Amino acid sequence: MTARRVLLIIGGGIAAYKVLTLIRDLGRRGIAVTPVLTEAGAEFVTPLSVSALAGEVVHDALFDLTREAEMGHIQLSRSADLVVVAPATANLMAKMAAGLADDLASTLLLATDKKVLLAPAMNVRMWQHTATQRNIETLRADGAQMVGPDEGDMACGEYGPGRMAEPAEILTAIERMLDARTLPASPSRPAPLRLPPEAVIRRQPLAGRHVIVTSGPTQEPIDPVRYISNRSSGAQGSAIAAALRDLGARVSFVTGPAETPPPAGVDVIRVSTADQMREAVEAALPADAAVMAAAVADWKVANAAGSKMKKDASGAAPALEFTENPDILAWVSQLTDGRPQLVVGFAAETDQLIDNASAKRRRKGCDWIVANDVGEGTGTFGGAENTVTLITETGNESWPKMRKDQVAAKLAGRIAEALS
Ligand code: CTP
Repeated sequence: MTARRVLLIIGGGIAAYKVLTLIRDLGRRGIAVTPVLTEAGAEFVTPLSVSALAGEVVHDALFDLTREAEMGHIQLSRSADLVVVAPATANLMAKMAAGLADDLASTLLLATDKKVLLAPAMNVRMWQHTATQRNIETLRADGAQMVGPDEGDMACGEYGPGRMAEPAEILTAIERMLDARTLPASPSRPAPLRLPPEAVIRRQPLAGRHVIVTSGPTQEPIDPVRYISNRSSGAQGSAIAAALRDLGARVSFVTGPAETPPPAGVDVIRVSTADQMREAVEAALPADAAVMAAAVADWKVANAAGSKMKKDASGAAPALEFTENPDILAWVSQLTDGRPQLVVGFAAETDQLIDNASAKRRRKGCDWIVANDVGEGTGTFGGAENTVTLITETGNESWPKMRKDQVAAKLAGRIAEALS
């Protein structure tokens, strides 16, 4: 195996401490690190700890590179196989999207001809700001890849998306990108997947295909602080997205607020309500296949309050009125224009599994239904295993009890066959 090297740009943020673990883990996998510490990054981790773990000198200022003993910034920016920015702050990404080069990190990012992986980390409001989202879109269109951010409690005390992906998740994304290193990096568009013919035939049957996967629960607001949701963990949806990715598909992963983190190497579109999920699916079309694994709330609150509901002296409970949510599976299945070639839905049933799920397949108009037996004692919800029956137009096939990742791999294999 040839030596692999990552140019690691460490931005300023509390998440920078996690990068020390990442450097250590990269070393254990035989991946060398050329560290670059921004001025803000140096507020959180010291050059000494970074260089001790990386076993390399830390580059931290543009003028250093004009010294005779140092490489020039062009050379440095191209000396590695992959450029990783972690944490990628809102500021660093804004500079990158605008093509600014006013310090070492931004100069390297503008000068590089290598692929770039960003691990964003910032406050939830900064992440959700239109300016940041616009920059993310620009960066993606320019060919940058993202890992995270994750959702959770943040150092600033808020909750939501913005937390940097865990080192293990970043490591997986790095290894994937290094493995696909034969791909040429393009300065303006994502590189087309170019794989050896043998890989396309044997291992990457979904190369060049686009699949939309929905996953996780939806949250339907009652008022700005309360919502109605369900216990879906998103485990099966994440596993399906990962399995499709492994077969070479480009995956648009539309996920509600799920407990299971999205897999690396897929395009993550985070949504909260069923309406947002439908819009995200529509925006992700066209696709070759769609797998609807989300547990979409069937109803939303019609009279959701614009401000927090308060108790009053009467002791009366508020009367919530419900209205039906769009059925995303039925909507995609019944598209007359731009319907994916294969639409797969899920059905969770406690009784008459086959009859109920077959009726659901016909009613919604999808091609396949993966029927889950969620009866008492099956442990499907929140568990690691699943017992499913694949229902198609031509018949039913009961699969033995399997781990969710095995169900996902088998289903992805079937999807690849159907699209071939
Ligand atoms: N689905 C959807 N949009 C909805 C509701 C469900 O896309 N508003 C999809 C789910 O992602 C899943 C399938 O439809 O693929 C499940 O259908 P649903 O009618 O909700 O069935 P169950 O969850 O099995 O529940 P029930 O039969 O009780 O309605």
